[in-house]
Order: sequence, then structure tokens, then C-alpha cells
Amino acid sequence: MTVVVRSFAKINLGLYIGDRRQDGFHELVTVYQTIALHDVIRVSVVRGNGIEICCEDSAVPKDDSNTCARIAAKVMALARSKGRVKIEIQKRLPVQGGMGGASSNAVATMLALERALKKSLPAGERLRIAAEVGSDLPLFLLGGRILGLGRGEQVYPLQDLPGLPCVIVTPKVGVSTPKAFAVWDRLRDENAQRASADRSAKLTDGAPSDKMSELSRNVSAWLSESYSGAPFRRGRRENPLLGLVRAGIKNDFEEVVFPEYPELSEVKRALERAGAKYASLSGSGSTIYGLFATKEQARKAAGKLSSMGWAAKATVTVTRREYWKKFLVSSF
Ligand code: C5P
Repeated sequence: MTVVVRSFAKINLGLYIGDRRQDGFHELVTVYQTIALHDVIRVSVVRGNGIEICCEDSAVPKDDSNTCARIAAKVMALARSKGRVKIEIQKRLPVQGGMGGASSNAVATMLALERALKKSLPAGERLRIAAEVGSDLPLFLLGGRILGLGRGEQVYPLQDLPGLPCVIVTPKVGVSTPKAFAVWDRLRDENAQRASADRSAKLTDGAPSDKMSELSRNVSAWLSESYSGAPFRRGRRENPLLGLVRAGIKNDFEEVVFPEYPELSEVKRALERAGAKYASLSGSGSTIYGLFATKEQARKAAGKLSSMGWAAKATVTVTRREYWKKFLVSSF
């Protein structure tokens, strides 16, 4: 049986970095949002053994370091199944950090493989092995709008709201996530040493835990607004996602990634000038996105940025319902 599924990308609507933990990971608070841009994954199981990755994109590893191969090995072991797993990755998304492409591909592979094997792993096991492969895999087991805590692997579904037009820009810059975290730590340590003398030091504006509770409060305020404001509201409402933007979300990675790659802050400014209600780095980048009030504005902005030489695509955010409705392409 060959199972074909869509592997949707995500963006981060705000990302606060907290303390470095004993295990080397950092505490995070973020809101993930899946978007319509996607790759297509085909999985089949044939006679033999081992895992085979096919992908025309040379940037995608074909060995067992590939996230799809790593998760497939775990699924085969857990399901106690035998056979050769063939995974074909049709890359439509640029292989660029920040959109969770490799993570999404892995989750799509896991679910497609279970179907090909006619086996079903318990939801808790899926979440566990997804988190073992990477911090931003579990979100793709929920889809839609999701609160991410812990190292990003603890995921909680947020209310499903209408899609919002957006523009995704993928500058040809490779940002290393571990390096971005390391620079964050170094700057924080340096600033902490200066903190008593210079209270205005940007990265020490409040302890990490204060910043984390600030984002949590902003997210809660945004969620409660949809309910508590309802009895008094008149006229047409704006897309509720823009309420989250008004709540003051930000991505901490911008403070370490923008100084190193000034081109990325230029893209953010270009999106804002092109009418974005909000523009931000996604994850540790280099993907930058802009949120727009209408599809027409997003389309025009993508055209404008493309004419400036950036790889820009207009798309829309994907609700949890749509995510699962469109997940399976075919199974034959
Ligand atoms: O979990 P994932 O494979 O995405 O993490 C890649 C690297 O990013 C980790 O090895 C770690 O260095 C860093 N990281 C972190 N804190 C997180 C997530 C990732 O320090 N919350």
C-alpha cells in the first residue's frame, strides 16, 4: 500500500526563550500556527528491510540522519513490523529553517507509515517518539493553533479560528538553531553581569520567568478577549489572530539573529512597508512572515517582495479542522 499525505509548515506567533535547563535545552513559550504551504510525502512498505529516502532536493539528507528515517525506524520497532520502508519526499517548501519542514515531514511519515502497516500507535506513544526526534515535531500531531511549552514539545491546542492571509519569505540564509541559543545565552550572561550598572540592558529587561509569564498572560488575554468582549461587541470583528498581535507578541530570536544577518531585518521592514499587520522571524529563522488583513494585500505584498529579489509566497494559516481534512491525499 502507498500512502500519500500532506506535510504542512508552521510559523511561530511569538517565541519567548527562558532558562537554559540541566539537559541543555531552553524553556520556551510559543504559539505555533500551521500554514497551507506543504510538502507531499509518499510512504510504502515493501519486502526486505531498511529505510530508503527519495528526494530530488539535494539539500535533504538521504541517510539515517533524516528525521523521516529516524521516526520510521522508531515506528517499525514499536509496531514490531518487518519490511523495507520507502519514503518519497516531494519538496515544495524551501529547505529553510523556521517553518518546521523536516519536523512536519517526520510526523507525516509516522502517520502515513502506520496506515501503510495497518497499525495504529497510541496517541501518547506518537507524542513521545515525536518529541524524541525533535522539539517541534509534536505540534504537527495537533495542527492549527497550538501553545508550545517546555522545550516546545509540550503542546496544547488553542481555539480554532478562521484562516488569516500571510506572506512567507525564505531568504537564502542558514541559521543554526543551537548556535542562536548559544549566542542568546552568551548575551544574557554578559548583560546579567552589567545589569546592576545598566538597568536598560535589553536582554535583562525582567528575568526570564517574568518574560515567560508575560507571554502566557498575553496569550490568555487574547483568548479571554474573544469571550469577555463578545456581549458588548458591535459590527464586524477583525480576525481574532490580529488580537494576539495586538497583545504584544515577539520572537526573542530576533535579538540574536538580526544583528548577525541584517538582511533578515530588512525583509521584516519590507513586509511591514508592504502593509503587514505584523511581521516576524519564525523560530530561529531564516523564514520571515507577515500577517495581512486580506488575501489581496498578501498577494500584492508577495509580488512586491519577489520583485525586490526575495523568495516570497502568499498563503493562509490553516485551522486544525482543515489540517486534518486535507492531511490524507490518497491511499492505494
Ligand atoms: O529539539 P531540536 O532537535 O529541534 O533542537 C535542536 C537544538 O536546539 C538542540 O540540540 C538544542 O541545542 C537547541 N534547543 C534548545 N532549546 C529548545 C529547543 C532546542 O536549546 N527548547
